[in-house]
Amino acid sequence: MSSLKRAGDVTITIEGTNRSATLPLLAGTLGPPAVDIRKLYQELGVFTFDPGYGETASCESKITYIDGDAGVLLYRGYPIEQLAEKSDFVEVCYLLMYGELPTAEQLAHFRRGVTYHTMVHEQLRRFFDGFRRDAHPMAVMCGVVGALAAFYHDNLDINDPRQREIAAYRLIAKVPTIAAWAYKYSLGQPFIYPRNDLSYAANFLHMLNAVPAEEYKVSPTLEKAMDLILILHADHEQNASTSTVRLAGSTGANPFACIAAGIAALWGPAHGGANEAVLKMLSDIGHPKNIPAFINEVKDKNSHTKLMGFGHRVYKNFDPRAKIMKESCHAVLKELGVTHEPLLELAMELERIALTDEYFISRKLYPNVDFYSGIILKAMGIPTSMFTVIFAVARTIGWISQWKELIEDPSQRIGRPRQVYTGPPRRDYVPIEARG
Ligand code: SDX
Repeated sequence: MSSLKRAGDVTITIEGTNRSATLPLLAGTLGPPAVDIRKLYQELGVFTFDPGYGETASCESKITYIDGDAGVLLYRGYPIEQLAEKSDFVEVCYLLMYGELPTAEQLAHFRRGVTYHTMVHEQLRRFFDGFRRDAHPMAVMCGVVGALAAFYHDNLDINDPRQREIAAYRLIAKVPTIAAWAYKYSLGQPFIYPRNDLSYAANFLHMLNAVPAEEYKVSPTLEKAMDLILILHADHEQNASTSTVRLAGSTGANPFACIAAGIAALWGPAHGGANEAVLKMLSDIGHPKNIPAFINEVKDKNSHTKLMGFGHRVYKNFDPRAKIMKESCHAVLKELGVTHEPLLELAMELERIALTDEYFISRKLYPNVDFYSGIILKAMGIPTSMFTVIFAVARTIGWISQWKELIEDPSQRIGRPRQVYTGPPRRDYVPIEARG
């Protein structure tokens, strides 16, 4: 049921004509109101133009709120800072999916439900063999997560709430198993099965790092750091990959195929692939003495060089997740006994210089979630190629919560943006012998 409230009207007039349209202004709980343009073409015969949808609300949602100017991020109204400090990832999954913090009984039931869906169909193992060992793990994730549709497509009625819930449990629980197996496959090591006696984060680390030859004890420090990284990456409003999931979901596609589409979109270096790109950028810079030359290269538009991990379509202030990640960096490195991490020192010096430089200040470019996450993941022994995979593991709950909200929205229709056509006007076919 829509919770949008009428907050007045907006009148659009085409100058030099007597044509105008009065459209409703719709307000939510927080954030700017939106002009309801659903009748704009019918009343005025015009479209709106917003490449990249930077100023367009694609949906009504109750899940995540971002105030980019103030650097605020709320999951179902709860500040990310409080959830990072007081909650854990599985509780955050429940909150994002059901909208409220669970009681102890609800959480225990949910945690058990996720735990008992972590195994995958044994035949799914065969999909891995089709990849080269040196395939990027995100390529494997796109393929194998999409292949879940081959196992569950036929017995899934997305209009049945219980079946939507089971699909959600399956994805939350099985994506870490597939992610860990993608890593093991790249190493040529045996797959490690999930363990029901471990927490979500510990189980994921165990599947990533254990080998059959000996017992692997998960470090509580790494378990806590992984859980925090998963919480910080869980959802983020209508970002590119979530919008991809929603667009695919609006056609009635299988949720497993929709999440695979989200994984593909997340892979891009402008989006989830940035954490991997930050580490490469820091390695290429190599030493603080090279920072000024790099900053000059970034300012040179012809270089097409970006300061990876900086800037954001919505945040024009510090990304609150970057602040939490930066603090956690120091704590994790200290607890791991890493007293000297050149990459962290380089990142902090790069941040310090960038934040005093007019180019970045004038464009309101600040560190985003990806600037520090890679440094923690590297300190945890995670290879760079797995950084975006970890982002995908975390974001699966956000994608599936947004997908459920879309399917359960009675007003939702198939997504179908329009365009402004600037190609050639109608013309007749020219036989090849008559072409110049
Ligand atoms: C994520 O949307 C989400 O919520 C995404 C995410 C999530 O949780 O789902 O937060 C995760 O994707 C974080 C972003 C990770 N990407 C990077 O760190 C890549 C580096 N950042 C840039 O590619 C860029 O900042 C984007 C893609 C993130 C945002 O692109 P925009 O919205 O087009 O950037 P903008 O309009 O704010 O840019 C304004 C100006 C432009 O220069 P001018 O044309 O005005 O001269 O700033 C420049 C841009 O060229 N600019 C940068 C820059 N980011 C923007 N210049 C150098 N380095 C950068 N990083």
